[in-house]
Amino acid sequence: QGCKLVGCGSAVPTLEITNDDLAKIVDTSDEWINARTGIRKRRILSGGENLTSLSIEAARKALEMAKLDPNDVDLILVCSSTSDDLFGTGPQISKQLGCKTNPAAYNITAACSGFILGLISAAGHIRGSGFQNVLVIGTDAVSRYVDWTDRSSCFLFGDAAGAVLVQACNCEEDGLFSFHLNSDGDGYRHLNAACKEEGANNNIAQEFPPKKYSYSSINMNGKEVLKFVIRNVPQSIESALEKAGMSASSIDWLLLHQANQRIMDAVANKLEIPSEKVISNVGNYGNTSAASIPLALDESVRNAKIKQGQIIAASGFGAGLTWATAIFQW
Ligand code: ACO
Repeated sequence: QGCKLVGCGSAVPTLEITNDDLAKIVDTSDEWINARTGIRKRRILSGGENLTSLSIEAARKALEMAKLDPNDVDLILVCSSTSDDLFGTGPQISKQLGCKTNPAAYNITAACSGFILGLISAAGHIRGSGFQNVLVIGTDAVSRYVDWTDRSSCFLFGDAAGAVLVQACNCEEDGLFSFHLNSDGDGYRHLNAACKEEGANNNIAQEFPPKKYSYSSINMNGKEVLKFVIRNVPQSIESALEKAGMSASSIDWLLLHQANQRIMDAVANKLEIPSEKVISNVGNYGNTSAASIPLALDESVRNAKIKQGQIIAASGFGAGLTWATAIFQW
C-alpha cells in the first residue's frame, strides 16, 4: 500500500504583533530583528481563541480540498508541544470536527520536528495497519511559553495551525518517497521549556505532597541552535534524497521549518539549492513550531506556487533536539 497527500489547510490567530509592537515592550528594533531573522510580524492567540479551534479550521480546509467528510477520517495525529490540554487534544478535535465514527486520535510531541514526524507516522499507519485517511495537524502556540521580557528570544515565535490529509493509494501512486530522522539529547540544554516545581529551580520533587508544577519559559541558546541546524539539516536532506534515489537538483521545492530566514538561506546554500526554490513565509508569521511546514505548504498550494505532481524536500528541526526530513510529492 502507498500513500499520498490529497489536501491541506491552515489557520492563524487574528492578533498581529509587528516588530515595532515588540520594541515597545523590550529593547529591540524592527531593523535588528529583520536583519537577523527576516521576521517582520507574527500572530498570537488572543481573546477566546485556542489551538483546538485553529486546528479544526485548518483540518476543515484540508478535508474540503480532499473532498472528504469528517467521517471518512480514520486517524487524527495532532503534532503539538503547546496543546490546550496536557493529556492531548486529538479526541476533542475529532469530536468538534464532527467525526461520528470515533476515529483513533492522539498527540505527538516533538516541537518543530513534530509535523514531519506526524507525516511519517501517518505513512507507517497506512502502509502497516491499513488506515485509509489520516489527518495530520501541526499546531502550536509557543507564545504561551515565551518570556516576553527576554529580548534574545521573544521576537522569534508565533502561533498557527496547519493540516494535511494523507490518503492510502496503490503503490504506483505512492507520493511519500523517503524519510530520515534523528535526535540528540545532548543538545537538550540549548533549547527547552522544562517542567519544574513552582518557585524552585530544579525539576525533582523533594517533598510530598509535591508543590504545584508548571513549565518554564523557553530557554534558548540561539547561537548553538543555529550551529546545530546548519551542521545537521543539510546532511539529513541529502540522506533522505539518496534513499529516494534523487539529488538536490531533482526537487522542485525546499520547504524547511520556518525558524528564520538566515537558517533557511544557510541550508539551501549548503545544498546548492537556488533561492527561487526555497519556500518562505517566516516574515509574516515567525517560527510557528509544528505548524510552520503545513502553514507554508498550504499558502504555497493555494497561491499556485506549488503545483500538483511537484517534488518537495521538507525538513523540521528544533527542541529535543530532533530533526526529520521527508521527500514527498504534492
Ligand atoms: N534586539 C536588539 N539587540 C539584541 C536582541 C534584540 N532582540 N537580542 C540580542 N541582542 C543583542 C545581544 O545582546 C548582543 O549584544 P552584544 O554584542 O552587545 O552582547 C547582540 O545583539 C548580538 O546577539 P547575538 O545573540 O550574538 O545575536 P545573533 O546574531 O546570534 O542572533 C538569533 C540571535 C537571531 C537568536 C540567532 O542566534 C538565531 O537565529 N538562532 C537560532 C535560534 C532559533 O531559530 N530558535 C528557534 C527555536 S528552534 C528552531 O525552530 C530551530
